[in-house]
Amino acid sequence: MIRRSILLGTGSALPVRAVSNAELAETVDTSDEWIVERTGIRNRHIAGEGETTSTLATDAARAALDAAGVAPQDIDLIILATATPDQTFPATATTVQAALGIDDCVAFDVAAVCSGFLYAITVADSMIRSGVAKRALVIGAETFSRLLDWEDRATCVLFGDGAGAVVLGAEESADGTRGILASKLHADGRHNQLLYVDGGPSTTQTVGKLRMRGQEVFRHAVVNLASVLNEVMAMAGLTNADIDWLVPHQANARILDATARKLKLSPDRVVVTVDRHANTSAASVPLALDLAVRDGRIKPGELIVLEAMGGGFTWGACVIRL
Ligand code: UT7
Repeated sequence: MIRRSILLGTGSALPVRAVSNAELAETVDTSDEWIVERTGIRNRHIAGEGETTSTLATDAARAALDAAGVAPQDIDLIILATATPDQTFPATATTVQAALGIDDCVAFDVAAVCSGFLYAITVADSMIRSGVAKRALVIGAETFSRLLDWEDRATCVLFGDGAGAVVLGAEESADGTRGILASKLHADGRHNQLLYVDGGPSTTQTVGKLRMRGQEVFRHAVVNLASVLNEVMAMAGLTNADIDWLVPHQANARILDATARKLKLSPDRVVVTVDRHANTSAASVPLALDLAVRDGRIKPGELIVLEAMGGGFTWGACVIRL
């Protein structure tokens, strides 16, 4: 028998307040035209008072549990990917655990910035396949608006807040054709000063602000994403022609187009949300996944591929048969 992690349900949550490019241009030296042309972003959601990474994560988790038909008490593992935790510690995953009323489970955060959800789902899958967990909540949740330098137009227009979640469950079958078929992670710390936050408890004792050398990140993203996608498809014994839906990290529409072109994937097989949500870091992949599941594009039995690249650099991809 083959034990695999099956995707049982998805959910997501966004802050109430949506901010258009035009609204941003009232306070930042930018324009709707520049942002749309260079990034494809038209809108982002920004957390308001009382909205935090844990509240968004909890709302997304509740929606995923409902969709999966799983009761909170049946969850034995929570992994939350974030670079913007409510507090330096405890792990935001434990705040979500308490909010969901789960008495006992394993709960921890994963920090891999924009690749965080790929890291989290890969770790959850390993724990499910090894028998440590049976039902896992995997969440990507961020409030990047609180890390942004609102005077740096080259970065502040690019990001948004939000959360996405999935419920994974263990399933044993003779052929193992369903569930997470393969995943692959990478990191290359030599580039960790191209996208970083200039503060932290152990250095400045401040939270810090996000800094990015955008063009260099862009170049690495296209190369690394195409390469890890080819790698993970080979691991699954499949080809790019087998992909029903690519659910990529949503950093820039031009990166999505370039990656699809490199993989010879039709653009209408790529789930795009960057126009509505901007870059929500670890939340972007599960947010996009939930949207495409709920609007009926992604259907049971289809093959989906998740991918992301972010600060570190870290990057990864994951192949799932629904
Ligand atoms: O999620 C993790 C992964 N992150 C990414 O993948 C981000 C990757 N990088 C990018 O998406 C792009 O590099 C950016 C969108 C960040 C920037 O686009 P670009 O085409 O590389 O623009 P640039 O940085 O070369 O800037 C071009 C010009 C500059 O002006 P000059 O020097 O040519 O006069 C900038 O000052 O655009 C200017 N500029 C802006 N103008 C209006 C930069 N930001 C803005 C802005 N509004 N918001």
